[in-house]
Amino acid sequence: MAKKTLSDLGDIAGKRVLVRVDFNVPLDKKTGAVKNDRRIRAALPTVKQLLGAGASVIAMSHLGRPEKATADERKNLTMDKVAARFGELLGLPVTKAADTVTGPAVTAAAAALKPGGVLLLENLRFDPREQQNDAAFAAEIAALADAYVNDAFGTCHNDKDASMVAVPAALKAAGKPRAVGLLVAKELDIIEGLMGAPKKPVLGIMGGAKVSDKIAFINALLAKVDHLLIGGKMAYTFLKARGTDVGATRVADEELAAAGPLLPHVGTKISLPVDCLAAKSDDLAQTRVCEGAIPAGFEGVDIGPKTLAAFGAKIASAATVIWNGPVGWFEQPAFSAGTKGVAAAMAASADVTVVGGGETAEAVEQFGYADKLTHVSTGGGAFLAYVEGKAFKSLQQIDDK
Ligand code: 3PG
Repeated sequence: MAKKTLSDLGDIAGKRVLVRVDFNVPLDKKTGAVKNDRRIRAALPTVKQLLGAGASVIAMSHLGRPEKATADERKNLTMDKVAARFGELLGLPVTKAADTVTGPAVTAAAAALKPGGVLLLENLRFDPREQQNDAAFAAEIAALADAYVNDAFGTCHNDKDASMVAVPAALKAAGKPRAVGLLVAKELDIIEGLMGAPKKPVLGIMGGAKVSDKIAFINALLAKVDHLLIGGKMAYTFLKARGTDVGATRVADEELAAAGPLLPHVGTKISLPVDCLAAKSDDLAQTRVCEGAIPAGFEGVDIGPKTLAAFGAKIASAATVIWNGPVGWFEQPAFSAGTKGVAAAMAASADVTVVGGGETAEAVEQFGYADKLTHVSTGGGAFLAYVEGKAFKSLQQIDDK
């Protein structure tokens, strides 16, 4: 890694370190409780290492999209519950700084921090200046600390978030060091390894809804993998484009257009499902396995058993597997066999298995396979963008070694 990491920060005993984490975690819609704390757990090694070196930590994150939320929804987007969960997982008290992101109370709380102390700022997006990469806002935050650490891999692709770009720029202007945290370093190493010299044969598995959203990612993957399996909703786009009747499965015209350039690879480098589970659109309890056409009134909801067996065999014979996007409507237990089966086959493989993307990560967690894979990325959009080879302004801000 050519960027500074925690060990390059020098002697941080007695210093205050600002750590940008990605605590944008799923919340229960009614109670606001943290539904999945994976991203909080993923940041703990960095926080613990900094505290162990005698520093204090000022953590900061966004949570949800308060700018689009109703007043009631916004109440659930304060960092209080996240701070409580963070404290529980860390085994230390975590103070939520104040109800505003910056201001005299926050400055006083930061100044009062003792070595080993942890403060969490309020949801960064409560201040509209966060998403405007505002320099004055960034200067207020930067003034709180002696060093900056980016450990928010899931947000690294956001070029206009002050906490990712303008804040480290302000620390640089003040002559303070900036490094990546252990999570970001690990995510970058793994993705760079995958896209650099992966162990062959390399298998890609794609799922999810839209081809158009992931076209750059699919092309980047196609350049690297020996074979690509396509499942999920997007598979019906390819099947329809090849003349299969997909029944009531909705396939937009722009999706067909996006899939067009990839069609020549189908049958050679790309494999589509050979069967699927279809459910009646107006009565999801009525299902049938279809090979070929899906009958009128039915829509594809999962890969079928023959496809799962074929995908499993491909996974077993690959040395590296990269998976993004569920292969079925896994949130519905009756339609989750495909996604669960792919996760199980990857977990049974002794080779390099990497999962990227919010929904896919959620699925492997839910089915209990996350710990049996080489790596489950904390990035959704960030994972896709990094694989595509996009340069991140946030990382450009980190000091070179
Ligand atoms: C994510 O969940 O992908 C990151 O936390 C970024 O969130 P955003 O899509 O709201 O910018």
